[in-house]
Amino acid sequence: MFILLMGPPGAGKGTQAEKLIRDYGIPQISTGDMFRAAVKSGTELGKEAKSYMDKGALVPDSVTIGIVGERLAQKDCQKGWILDGFPRTEAQAKALDDILKEMNISLTAVLEIKADAKGLIKRISGRLVCKGCGASFHKDFRPPAKEGICDNCGGELYQRADDNEATVGERLEVYEKSTRPLIDYYKKTGKLYEIDGDQEMDKVYDDICGVLKKVSR
Ligand code: AP5
Ligand code: MG
Ligand code: ZN
Repeated sequence: MFILLMGPPGAGKGTQAEKLIRDYGIPQISTGDMFRAAVKSGTELGKEAKSYMDKGALVPDSVTIGIVGERLAQKDCQKGWILDGFPRTEAQAKALDDILKEMNISLTAVLEIKADAKGLIKRISGRLVCKGCGASFHKDFRPPAKEGICDNCGGELYQRADDNEATVGERLEVYEKSTRPLIDYYKKTGKLYEIDGDQEMDKVYDDICGVLKKVSR
């Protein structure tokens, strides 16, 4: 299964990917997670990515396309993957088309998780992320059983550097301007499915599974 998870910041891409990994046994390729890992290890890529992420801007296409191309060529990606947060620009979508063609893969489904803008800010400002496994929690909507500790792996929870009000506004604008047009791009392929992301997390997941059942029949 080769799935694209699309949707604005805070829509629930990471949250739903976590469930898909568990049930479908395919890796999640999150460009945001990859950049955060690079920032943490202090690599050149991390330094460059951080300068964009801190502003809520997109990391340049050349950099992003390169790391995704390398990742998708790895062995664990042969049977399927969930791309979370890529593509985000037209150039990235075209590059992905080329990669898929070269690998003789066709997308199974493009899932657009739609969510109300006002709710997104609440979700992002209350989000807590695990330093160990990257899982997303929320102080109100998904509180961990033990404060500050990840339910899945016992890792420490932290607030992302770009989860502040100033940056969130910019990220939402960048989504509207650069990424939203891709929805039409994928609509034309007939593989786009809209998912109502304003429901309770498990309901959102039920809808996703419904689509995946339908398309893999
Ligand atoms: P990235 O890490 O991808 O961030 P994003 O797109 O802004 O998306 P988020 O991770 O914020 O949201 P999400 O949809 O995963 O929500 P989550 O499930 O955590 O990118 C970060 C930065 O990296 C970018 O700004 C850019 O600089 C760079 N970058 C990344 N990819 C790039 C690319 N392709 N090109 C260029 N630059 C790139 O949920 C959010 C919160 O809500 C959580 O607290 C969760 O518990 C809660 N929640 C989830 N679902 C529900 C629900 N149904 N009800 C109530 N609460 C919910
Ligand atoms: Mg995410
Ligand atoms: Zn964890």
